[in-house]
Amino acid sequence: MPLSTFDEKVESQIEILLQSKKYKSLLIPAETLRDLVSIELLNHRNEKEAVKSIRQKLHNIMAPYLGDPDYAAESKRLALFFNNPLPGEVKNACLPILQAHASTRERIPILDEFYQGIFEHTGQPKVILDLACALNPFSIPWMNLSAGTRYYAYDIHQPRLNLINQFLGHLGFETLAEKRDILINPPLVQADVAFLFKEAHRLEQRRRGCNLPLWQALNVRHFLVSLPASSLSGQHDLADRQRHLVKSIIGENPWKVTEMIFGNEMVFCIEKDA
Ligand SMILES: C[S@@+](CC[C@H](N)C(=O)[O-])C[C@H]1O[C@@H](n2cnc3c(N)ncnc32)[C@H](O)[C@@H]1O
Repeated sequence: MPLSTFDEKVESQIEILLQSKKYKSLLIPAETLRDLVSIELLNHRNEKEAVKSIRQKLHNIMAPYLGDPDYAAESKRLALFFNNPLPGEVKNACLPILQAHASTRERIPILDEFYQGIFEHTGQPKVILDLACALNPFSIPWMNLSAGTRYYAYDIHQPRLNLINQFLGHLGFETLAEKRDILINPPLVQADVAFLFKEAHRLEQRRRGCNLPLWQALNVRHFLVSLPASSLSGQHDLADRQRHLVKSIIGENPWKVTEMIFGNEMVFCIEKDA
């Protein structure tokens, strides 16, 4: 079937983004770009403004300003470390990677109490989904997981996923990091817990209302949504705004919500079948 003019415009924008210097090496899924481009083209009469909005939104989705490690260098360093690992040093080996991204960097001082507190509430999980994970799987050494735990990690940034699968392999876990747009294809794996850390408010910026279909689709006993309790600069208290956001997403759904706070991170534990 021949492509319509609209489809041609969408495909040509996707190609430009996939080939751009800024995004080429990230191998963003075409489905993410197709979704973003088609909606912005439909929402703007003026094509120039649509393209501007696509670029701004993609910048916010991929968030290069939050930081990245040198993936090739870290891959070599991890391979060298795990060639002859000192068991007491695994956490130290993960720290430079956690430090390279703002979301995990902020969590380092509270990592022990964070996972201990969460799992005290949920019970020790055997199957975990880490949604829009960025580099959070490098916190696994702080989670005290039992052997055989399955850790599914989802992101749309291929170099991150490659490093995570390498790391999961070194730890003896199944390599379950997968490139998947969680809004377009929510993972339906049954799990004890799912993490959606520091991302729900950012997903709303891609498209208002997009969280609820994801939250509804998940087959998990405990769904943990975290949000920053204050702004990156530390100047604004965001707690009430975050409570309001979670409440407004849940709407009329009769879900049980338990709030926990660790340092600057608020965690909302949602149980859909409580
Ligand atoms: C702010 S970081 C997440 C931080 C991480 N959850 C943590 O708390 O350490 C955002 C991550 O979400 C990923 N991402 C954004 N939109 C996504 C989507 N629709 N599906 C899957 N991953 C997504 C980005 O590639 C990026 O790695």
